[in-house]
Formats: sequence, C-alpha cells, structure tokens
Amino acid sequence: MTVVNEADEVPLPQPVLGPLTRAAIFLVVTVKPEPENYEALRSFCGDIAGLIRAVEFRDIDAGLTCIAAFGSDVWDPLFGSPRPAELHPLREFRSGNRYALATPGDILFHIRAGRMDICFELATQIMEKIGDAVEVADEVQGFRYFEDRDLIGFVDGTENPRGSLALESALVGDEDAPFAGGSYVLVQKYLHDMKAWNALSTEAQERIIGRKKLSDIELDDSVKPTNAHSALTVIEENGKEVKILRDNMPFGQPGRGEFGTYFIGYCRTPRITELMLENMFVGRPPGNYDRLLDFSRAVTGGLFFAPSATFLEGAADAQPASEASSTPAVASDQPSSSVRDTSLGIGSLRGERNE
Ligand code: HEM
Repeated sequence: MTVVNEADEVPLPQPVLGPLTRAAIFLVVTVKPEPENYEALRSFCGDIAGLIRAVEFRDIDAGLTCIAAFGSDVWDPLFGSPRPAELHPLREFRSGNRYALATPGDILFHIRAGRMDICFELATQIMEKIGDAVEVADEVQGFRYFEDRDLIGFVDGTENPRGSLALESALVGDEDAPFAGGSYVLVQKYLHDMKAWNALSTEAQERIIGRKKLSDIELDDSVKPTNAHSALTVIEENGKEVKILRDNMPFGQPGRGEFGTYFIGYCRTPRITELMLENMFVGRPPGNYDRLLDFSRAVTGGLFFAPSATFLEGAADAQPASEASSTPAVASDQPSSSVRDTSLGIGSLRGERNE
C-alpha cells in the first residue's frame, strides 16, 4: 500500500527526532492471530494521532509524543504491499556467553514526555483501544537519571547526532521512496550486574565505555582500547561516520535487585544498528568484543519500522496481503525524498541534499 496524502504532499515523520525526555514507556505487543484483529489495528492506526492529541492537550507543556513501529511478521497482514525494503526479523548474534536475542513483538509504542503520568495515561488509552486484539510482550517504564546518566553511572547520549545530521541518520529518504520519512528502530532490554560492575575501579569502567565517568570526556585515542563500547559502535562507510539516534532510558526495581538500560536506536537502515550489535557481541575483529557485555545482558530484542505519520493516517484504507494482489496499489506521485520535520523544524531531507 502506498498512502498519498493529497492535502499534504510530503510525508510527515512520526516524532522520531523528538527531544530526550524525563520519562518514557516502551510497550511491545504481539497481535492475536484472528483476522478481525488486523482490521481493528488498521483502523486504530488511522486514529492514533487523534488519541495522542487528546492526551497531549491535557498538559501541552509535558511534550507528550508517541511513535508506533511494526515488526516484520506483522507488516504484510496489516498493511499489505509494498513493505519497507529492509524490514526483517532482528538478526541474532551469539558468541561465547554473549547473546543478542530476538524476542516476540509485533508493535512497539515508544511513548515520551516530561512526566510519567501523561505517558501512563496514553499507554492506558492505547491498551483500552487495542487490548482485545493484542497480547503484551513487554512493558518498561524508563526514567531520566542524574545528569542523563545510565544506571552504570555514565552519561548516555552524548554522541547522538543533532540537527540535520539527526534527520539524515534516522529517516529513510529516497532510497525507499514509498517509505520516506520512516525509520528502523531496534530495541533491547539490558539488565546489569551492578555488584560486579561496582567492584571495578573507575578507571577500568572508563576503559570499557571509552569516556571519563565524571566529566564524560572521551578517552584519548592513545589510551582508548579498540574494544571500548564507544569504539566498537563507531561505524564508518566510505570514509564517513554513519550514526544512529539513541534515546536509552534507565529502568529498574531496586527492591528486586533489577537495574537496567532500555536501549532504543533509530536509523534509516537497520544494517548499521545490527553491525554495531555484531561488533559488540562478536567483536571487531571477532573476539575483540564489548566488555560491557560481561556486566550487562540483553533479555529482549526486536527490530521494527516506524512509518511516517502520513502513512499511518492512511492505514485504515490499507489492503492486507491476501487482498492486495487483486487490487493495484495507489501510486504515489509525490517527490518522496522530501521529508518534513516538525520536531526540530530543520527542513526536509531533499532540502538538506540540495543545499
Ligand atoms: C547496556 C546497554 C548500553 C549502555 C549502558 C550504553 C551506554 C553508552 C554510553 C555510556 C555511551 C557513551 C556516551 C554517548 O555517546 O552516548 C554510549 C555510546 C554509544 N552507544 Fe551505547 N550503550 C548500550 C548499548 C548500546 C547498543 C546495543 C548500541 C548499538 C546497537 C549502542 C550504540 C552506541 C553508540 C552508537 C554510541 C556512540 C559512540 C560514539 O559515537 O562515540 N549502545 N553507550
């Protein structure tokens, strides 16, 4: 299905580029198999923007946003054809006792706001609407910790791309025209062994992350190990660094000894984020792996595609896979490399390239 929004010729992204917030909910659901559930979910996709607006308006200053993203298995029965060119089930990586696993999940809701209560309200309203059609696979409430640190004590998010680089890194452009303005999103829930981590010296921790703990300054190349986390996650292609956009959140339950980081990374191609995973878990070169994984283990993993808001709005009219073959898709006549950005107000992908 190709959605054409006649009133608005360029696809409007979901708020992937939204600012980091104090609170977030990561809700992953699987769709129950009966066909009527897909019908209900298509209709919900068309209504979700209105639902978000209604909750957002109760406290506009809280800056509520929500991104809905869909897994490979659910794409065809939900939206039919075409499908995002690079959408596939998350690639797993296993080496030694390290395992980046893929766990069940058809739809991811990434809800962000300045306050947890409004995130909570939106999650409640979403479940009210789709609760009969889905089963919850995972639900995590994340919070911003001192000075944007994760629970292992390091500032997390420093090297995120900003401004036009964020847009260029995170949003699909004309390489997959029907899905311009969308984004591939990879999530993993990590649990930390805090006792073992805290038994390390600060200097040993700094060599694992590749940055100073207190000041957040990057270690000099002469002392930064090649297997530092912030070395293995730097990817260059054709001599140019390629970035992902992260919005990790701490979560946990001290009473149960649970301390975690919910990793979330947006990219215009899943290839880059999966390559980072491979470098971390298998190593670059193999064996030279990320020592953070001796203290943190992934317990969930999933790859999703967050289509543009324009696409979602038209989803209620989508043809499911079984019907799509008999009905020609509506052709898009829009210049699909154009992507409007509303969250940062920094123009279109096409604009960036033409400058
Ligand atoms: C236990 C889970 C994780 C923790 C606690 C964590 C923490 C951190 C910290 C503290 C930094 C340095 C500050 C910064 O630039 O943000 C960092 C950088 C980074 N991380 Fe992670 N991270 C985790 C998982 C991941 C995963 C799974 C990926 C990718 C698949 C990833 C990709 C990156 C990237 C791209 C950078 C920036 C590297 C640079 O350009 O210097 N991280 N992470």
